[in-house]
Amino acid sequence: MAVGVLLRYDITWIGRRSHRATPTIRDRWELVMAIEQELPRGASRPASLAGRITEATSTGKTRQQGLGLRDEIPKVGLPEYWYPVIADKDVPAKRAVRRKALGEDIAFFRGAHGQVAAITNWCPHRNASMGDGKSLFPGTLSCPYHGLTFDETGAAVAFLGEGSGSKFCNRPSNAARSFPTRTLKGLVFVWMGAGKPAPIEEDVPPEFFDESAQIMFSEQRWKANWRVSLENLQDAHVFFVHRTSLEVLMQDTNGLNLLLHMGPDRPPTRVVNGRALVFENPRFFDFVDSNQERKTHIEPVEFQDTYPQLGNAKFPRTRTRLYLARAFGFLRRHLRPKADWLVDEIEWAQGVHMPTMYRLDYQTHIYTRAVTPIDEENCAVFYYKTMYPRSKGRRIWNRINYRIYYDWKQHRNFSGQDKRIVEEVNYENPKERFSSSDAFPLAWRRMVIDYAREPQK
Ligand code: FES
Ligand SMILES: [Fe+2]
Repeated sequence: MAVGVLLRYDITWIGRRSHRATPTIRDRWELVMAIEQELPRGASRPASLAGRITEATSTGKTRQQGLGLRDEIPKVGLPEYWYPVIADKDVPAKRAVRRKALGEDIAFFRGAHGQVAAITNWCPHRNASMGDGKSLFPGTLSCPYHGLTFDETGAAVAFLGEGSGSKFCNRPSNAARSFPTRTLKGLVFVWMGAGKPAPIEEDVPPEFFDESAQIMFSEQRWKANWRVSLENLQDAHVFFVHRTSLEVLMQDTNGLNLLLHMGPDRPPTRVVNGRALVFENPRFFDFVDSNQERKTHIEPVEFQDTYPQLGNAKFPRTRTRLYLARAFGFLRRHLRPKADWLVDEIEWAQGVHMPTMYRLDYQTHIYTRAVTPIDEENCAVFYYKTMYPRSKGRRIWNRINYRIYYDWKQHRNFSGQDKRIVEEVNYENPKERFSSSDAFPLAWRRMVIDYAREPQK
């Protein structure tokens, strides 16, 4: 039998009755997916995970199913997409700058019209680093070694070391690979595919094409594989990991209860246009403003849970946070302006969008986290905050607020907690055991495997 292996993910049902007398959402059967052993390569691909979870939830029977998903997703990212790679302001006028995305080393420089252009970092002559090159002539980049000079299409147009009589230039075989780029709202997006570039509107949020939208963004580096950072979503970590974050400390009672009491189940999801994974009720998480009419109704729940096997200990251990939430709820109701949904298209609503975005419509602003894989161990995490200011003054204030408060609160304080955990996850360990609250990350794997774009001619 072939030595190559795929992992087998076995689903085991573990029935567990809650200690509570009154049935609640937690009394449902709990799904645990255990990954146990190896299967020969060529084993048939499992049927839809979402379908299987639904089926299992309705029957509650013990069953074994093969899953094999994680290792079908490329370690350095899905190439046939547009990705954010560098801020426009970080590309100087007269020299190149080097970045890495999806395992490719890229040299960025200014093209003939001042726009950011991108070619491979490795000079086709003898592989010097073009990122150390200079733009000696407008719209070109010269290699620092022998002076081979490229235009923004990657064509070698001059060989300064050999002189104007050089026969090396203007041959397609000596051209550098160029990467199509598009700069939107100060951020440079790069087409990383081998095939014909897809319409950029399919891969970049609609706000980037909207004149009235103000987008502020920042970048972080995570020492983690991109897949781990995409799976850090909509599972049971949110309240637990972020319970000390300023964001959670400032929630109102509804927000706090929803974060804390999602329980072992997750709402059903669906894939939209083969590009986005959203909840069937995409406004499920409407807890931000407690006085909104269209707000999802949240049943009042006991704030603290009791754990019999911990000697009836309670978690959260004190009620302090609840009192804080009441105070913040009061402040929010009285101080915050009424807000409404900002995203109309379901494809771009709350959820994950291909290739690597996570989106959340906070009604006051739109949150997007976009991950660009660097290599197998690193990724660049871009955060976008979109707002629709009505005046110039408001636009300036938004920027100040972002720089001195929001960027820290949301991306360092809150997401910094994710970063610390995610960077230490041992993702290469072939064993994983899933609970039912992991349905979203698993549905994400399924979407990637089923829908990731293939190269187009
Ligand atoms: S290596 Fe670039 S010109 Fe020689
Ligand atoms: Fe998180």
